Amino acid sequence: MSNTAKALPLIIDCDPGQDDAIALMLAMASPEELNLLGICAVAGNVPLVLTEANARRIRDVSGRPEVAVFAGCPRPMVKILETAEYVHGKSGIDGAGLPDPSRPVEAAHAVDWLVDTLRHADAPITLATLGPLTNIAMAIVMAPDIVENIGQLVLMGGALSLGNITPAAEFNIYSDPHAAHIVFEAGLKLTMIGLDVTHQARATPERLEAIRAIGNPAATCVAGMLDFYGAQYIETFGEGAPLHDPCVIAYLLRPDLFTGQDMRVDIEISSPLTIGQTVCDVHARSGQAANANVLEKIDADGFFALLGERLALLPDTV
Ligand code: RIB
Ligand code: CA
Repeated sequence: MSNTAKALPLIIDCDPGQDDAIALMLAMASPEELNLLGICAVAGNVPLVLTEANARRIRDVSGRPEVAVFAGCPRPMVKILETAEYVHGKSGIDGAGLPDPSRPVEAAHAVDWLVDTLRHADAPITLATLGPLTNIAMAIVMAPDIVENIGQLVLMGGALSLGNITPAAEFNIYSDPHAAHIVFEAGLKLTMIGLDVTHQARATPERLEAIRAIGNPAATCVAGMLDFYGAQYIETFGEGAPLHDPCVIAYLLRPDLFTGQDMRVDIEISSPLTIGQTVCDVHARSGQAANANVLEKIDADGFFALLGERLALLPDTV
């Protein structure tokens, strides 16, 4: 549970995924700053049946079994589900070496829980999204009134420049571009952390060994996941593993590690060639008002120092 009244009320929506898993650990290791109200799982890297169970495994190894995990949407709003086992492995968190979860997923659907929690919030809630935006978009369509209780949404997704799943699009946005369009048009206070930033946060061998040396169950799990995920990245993209999703939590904890600028971002939802592209109006050529703070730089050494410091706080026995 959060230890202080000033901790930021937070909901994380994710598709674990090794990098999602590390982001969840970073959040659960920071109860002084982050009051994690619940975790919502969505289909993305792997099917929902795995992403929700993986989220429960990670809460156990983080010593936070009390955190509720909700299963959300099993497929995108319009497109078919296209998973990424070629990057994350069949389980979604290959290399983690974790036992089955200690307790079941919550009965409520994540979208119903999101609507109910936001509707009854006594203070604005921050949403951190680490996967496709299906759950969030569905909640906004079902209950547009919840937007006023979303203090901010910080997402890992998109890119100012190149994609990773296609030449033009990043995986989270590409997976459900229609959901992303709804979220970017909802009038939320958005911070977009795209590939331009996350590719600066690479788990080099030195950084990986520093994490492994922490030696507690969570850090050992992270090292095992990065051994696998890093190898896949080198095989697929030719360079070490970028820690995409942990950048979102690091931004909530230490925004000073990042720089960016407000700009208009539109989501391509029509072109077969570029569907899912985040069209970022860097030079304000569209004449449209900015709808996102798009981050561009990260202090990578500062990020890994924060990650190592917080992983070391997680329990020595779970
Ligand atoms: O493109 C990277 C994003 O897609 C990350 O969130 C990763 O976990 C995958 O979901
Ligand atoms: Ca993810």
